[in-house]
Amino acid sequence: MSLVNKTTGQILPVIEVIQQVREIIWNWKHAGETIAFVPTMGHLHEGHLALLKQANALGTKTVVSIFVNPMQFGKNDDFDEYPRTLDDDLGKLYEYNVDFVFAPSVDEVYPGGGECASFIDIPGFSSMLDGEHRPGFFPGVATVVNKLFNIIQPNIAVFGEKDYQQLMVVRQMVNDLSMPVEIRSVTTVREADGLAMSSRNGYLNNEQRSIAVGLYGCLERVVEAVRQGEDPNFEVVHATHDLTEQGFIVDYVVVRRQQDLSVPQPGDKALIALAAARLGSVRLIDNIPFELSE
Ligand code: PAF
Repeated sequence: MSLVNKTTGQILPVIEVIQQVREIIWNWKHAGETIAFVPTMGHLHEGHLALLKQANALGTKTVVSIFVNPMQFGKNDDFDEYPRTLDDDLGKLYEYNVDFVFAPSVDEVYPGGGECASFIDIPGFSSMLDGEHRPGFFPGVATVVNKLFNIIQPNIAVFGEKDYQQLMVVRQMVNDLSMPVEIRSVTTVREADGLAMSSRNGYLNNEQRSIAVGLYGCLERVVEAVRQGEDPNFEVVHATHDLTEQGFIVDYVVVRRQQDLSVPQPGDKALIALAAARLGSVRLIDNIPFELSE
């Protein structure tokens, strides 16, 4: 299927079948194109569009995937409710120089009823922070990203830093398995009040939306205090208490090393404050990377 923008006449091919993607990619590879790829689950917002801008700047061809990946949702997660807004998403993509959108069905990606016997696991990351709170999530992400890389064969893939642990997982997978893909990242895009953009923000009711920004505020206070020399362990306990008072159910607030998300050691300078917390059934994550001065 191809969509034509009635105003500009621009064509946006939308491909659902892996074999058709392979044919295009084969031609591009032989023509020496540099393929930049942005994997998404759709419901696109400014954060995704920033990834696209980066991809446009880095490649001679830009490919976007829109696929809500069942393998990264747990039994109690929101797979069925996850917003699927393909028409709106395609409308947004016209503004960018996207060469095609890969929007496969679940059966196309996981033939035989959504099952996938093989999977990629990176044990360190899948058992900490989001991995601990969402068992199966990172193996699901790593496996589908690997599949998408095998299908699109990008030279470059662009990910958002809001999902910092996911970015670490993808980098680790690419390094460990010698995948010929350069991973680039883009800083978190925020609403005017500071709330990190996320496809899940749309689930928040008005009251929750006004509380949600507290997550970023809380991380800002942790970062400021640690920069002033306060003990990170004390600050995260304090922040957890603050968030709970505001109405969040807190999964974690931590300060870790940027490099590998391990617990900081004396002398570490490149740190990151990360948090995950729920408002009702909506789970929000955010982070702020920061450097300590000498
Ligand atoms: O960040 C996301 O939207 C998803 O986890 C990804 C990377 C597209 C894999 O399904």
